[in-house]
Amino acid sequence: MSFTVAIDGPAAAGKGTISKAVARHFNFGHLDTGLLYRAVGARMLDGVEPVAAAKALDARDLDRTDLRSAEVAQAASKVAVIAEVRAALVDFQRAFARRSGGAVLDGRDIGTVICPEAEVKLFVTASAEVRAQRRFLELADSGTTYEAVLADVRARDERDMTRAEAPLKPADDAVTIDTSALSIEEAVAQAIAVIEARQQG
Ligand code: DC
Repeated sequence: MSFTVAIDGPAAAGKGTISKAVARHFNFGHLDTGLLYRAVGARMLDGVEPVAAAKALDARDLDRTDLRSAEVAQAASKVAVIAEVRAALVDFQRAFARRSGGAVLDGRDIGTVICPEAEVKLFVTASAEVRAQRRFLELADSGTTYEAVLADVRARDERDMTRAEAPLKPADDAVTIDTSALSIEEAVAQAIAVIEARQQG
């Protein structure tokens, strides 16, 4: 039996943390779809044309150690505006969503475009300032400043929300979790409660 949990939201809102915790709690598979776009972005930085990179993407590309860098994040956000890049990644994501035993997919367009039939849709968000502060603490040793991280977060939000193709926005039937003032445990508990309510019909 398949059961799909779609988790969308902007960068550094807590999607990844919540998705991993939810997948562990329910013993569902987890796909961080941002990694697919990051892998294509990294290939573009290597000099490969992005549509060709998306069509040729393979598992090894997802194991690269540079996928979490700020440079690759910006490249990912840039390749993500290209309709043919997005189209090349659809089948893989949909197949994962329908795997038996349940699946959590997190990204920007999972509830709106990839899995409009998902059993549960969550939109995980937080203010840009809170998200930048969290990302800044994660990057503490890298010599960057809070202002630079905030500018990066805003630039990525702007690009992700205003693109023509699958822009970041909550699905009409998504439940929004604003994590600005929540601990990780509180945010995870809210997500689990929504999923349990849906499982019980
Ligand atoms: O979630 P992330 O920060 O790893 O995502 C990197 C970029 O990839 C993000 O800025 C937009 C793009 N992305 C997307 O367009 N659609 C998705 N489902 C996931 C990510």
